Amino acid sequence: MIENVIGRYSLPFAVATNFRINGRDYLAPMVIEEASVVAACSNAAKLFRESGGFTASADDPIMIGQIQVLDLPDLEAAIDAIAAGKADIIAQVNARDGSIVARGGGAIDLRARALRSTAAGDMLILHLHYDVRDAMGANAINSAVEQIAPRIESITGGRVNLRILSNLSDQRMARAEGLIRCDLLARAGFSGSEVAERILEAAAFAEVDPYRAATHNKGIMNGIDALLLATGNDWRAVEAGAHAYAARDGQYTSLTKWRQDAGGNLHGEIELPLAVGIVGGATRAHPGAHTALKLLGVKSARELAQVAAAVGLAQNLGALRALATDGIQKGHMRMHARQLALAAGADENEAHAVAGQLIEEGEIRSERALAIVRERRRST
Ligand code: MEV
Repeated sequence: MIENVIGRYSLPFAVATNFRINGRDYLAPMVIEEASVVAACSNAAKLFRESGGFTASADDPIMIGQIQVLDLPDLEAAIDAIAAGKADIIAQVNARDGSIVARGGGAIDLRARALRSTAAGDMLILHLHYDVRDAMGANAINSAVEQIAPRIESITGGRVNLRILSNLSDQRMARAEGLIRCDLLARAGFSGSEVAERILEAAAFAEVDPYRAATHNKGIMNGIDALLLATGNDWRAVEAGAHAYAARDGQYTSLTKWRQDAGGNLHGEIELPLAVGIVGGATRAHPGAHTALKLLGVKSARELAQVAAAVGLAQNLGALRALATDGIQKGHMRMHARQLALAAGADENEAHAVAGQLIEEGEIRSERALAIVRERRRST
């Protein structure tokens, strides 16, 4: 798959449970090294499930390919020439990419944007919109923009420099929403409505503060990236798109919105660009990704995007509910204690007991874990 390989590097492959999306049940495969993510995601999905599940949707899988044109004798005339030649250019792309056109995809639009007085002077930026069907589509769109570049030069009289997709795939958005009954939100020491209120306070914080929004969105991407890694998708592409979209209005903000309805129930929604595929790239070449897609049972890239949006929303709820009540360290400490126990030489069977003792004593440190394991060895 890549160059200069010296080995393989494996990560835990888990399954997040309880997802009900558009009336269908899903098990979400997740590959991630961070403790608590899968548990939090599954617990949060259960809260949504018990209140009716997620409703999700996704746009047609339209990628944007950019062509940068410089040294134009006349920028306005170039824009007019592109508008006049647009149908022919689209036909040229689709004549070459017959198999994707036969499946309902292919180039559908060509738009022009003028960027004036940049450090490199005026430039014309063309956006080729291309429906890539069930692929992530990087190869299809990159080939298409490279193919039409010479034609663009002859039509505009300019010089083409870059020809590459945009990861801000805002023509390929996915969204999910769902409700959590107020009573289900209760946690030791907090009523459901108190938790809902505290979650709304947390959401308001992320909406206005980029420092918080970055962490809030990182939590969302914990779930989405894990699903994308499991299914062989390019999670860096989706990360880039998500964060660029979060800053679309000039201020970086939260990817989710939370509100309370008249009955006190919490309502959450998420919307983000999700350029994902179920064919091409590593999705089929990597046996783990192949298994993950089989387990998930999605029939299209759009369906995968819907699941990813729901996973992101669930992950966000899981994090906010923990942060707005007990904090996240309590859950993390259990896993941390277990890791210390294993590192101190406890075997799989005794790790639970050693971790339990560390937590009970309130001293979650490696020296204490070592001492407990030694004591256990002496007494057996
Ligand atoms: C940790 O990986 C993710 C969180 O920080 C997300 C958040 O703060 O919302 C818990």
